[in-house]
Amino acid sequence: MAPRFLVCPPDRFGVRYAINPWMTAHVGTTTPDAVRQWERFAELLGCVADAEMVVLESRAAAPDLVFTANAALTIGNLAVVSSFRHAERRREQPLYRAALARAGFATTFLRQTYFEGAGDALFDRVRPLLYAGYGWRTERGATLQLAEIVGCRVLPLLLVDERFYHLDLALCPLSTGHVLAYMNAFSPHAQTMLRRAIEPGYLIEVSVDDALRFACSTVEVRDTLVMHDCSRALREQLHAIGYRVFRTDLSEFHKAGGSAKSLTLRLDDGPAAAATAVSA
Ligand code: ARG
Repeated sequence: MAPRFLVCPPDRFGVRYAINPWMTAHVGTTTPDAVRQWERFAELLGCVADAEMVVLESRAAAPDLVFTANAALTIGNLAVVSSFRHAERRREQPLYRAALARAGFATTFLRQTYFEGAGDALFDRVRPLLYAGYGWRTERGATLQLAEIVGCRVLPLLLVDERFYHLDLALCPLSTGHVLAYMNAFSPHAQTMLRRAIEPGYLIEVSVDDALRFACSTVEVRDTLVMHDCSRALREQLHAIGYRVFRTDLSEFHKAGGSAKSLTLRLDDGPAAAATAVSA
């Protein structure tokens, strides 16, 4: 079955406020190439990687709606819809909820806590494990509530570098069992937890250079990885483990602090079955 993604075209995208350090220098600037960049990105996912897209209509009052990773976390046919930390993004919540309900999901929310969906919660693809980032956007309390819902172990990971304020900017679990990580984005304790959870040969530590190019914000579809950019060294490592790597310019979205993975929400998601876990 083709993997399914929720996406939202950027015809009303722009940097209108600053809620992360990437946005600060760009408030009010125009993003003329965003539509062209997004179309090429969507074409890569659809044509090259053969993914299915569910399209959410853009809204003028919600310029960050393009970052559908923050809509929710989906687990089977349940969507745990985000509760945004910043008022600027709160009006997106009912739009995402309605889109997910239309796509056939039962929807729910966490109680009295901030939670920013698949921006901060990523299922390992082979280990029965959910990586849950917290600190800048999602709260630790959300990671505890998720543990009651997801049916697998939750690893709460404190994010400490504000440039990587969402987990999906610093971590990317792949279906081969490899996990891309920019370790300095995590607290020392979180780094220890990651090293314990991921066998040494499977942890791919990316450089600060690659992290700043948002190489961790990668969309995986079958044997294809779609991202903004990365170093030749990382590309070769990814080729060696069996991936085709497609780079496509998403610089307009970097002005708002998001990249490839942030522009998608995986709709067929959930914990990996314990039996398929990589053996150490
Ligand atoms: N401007 C958006 C924000 O600050 C960008 C979101 C990027 N999303 C992500 N999953 N990394 O919320």
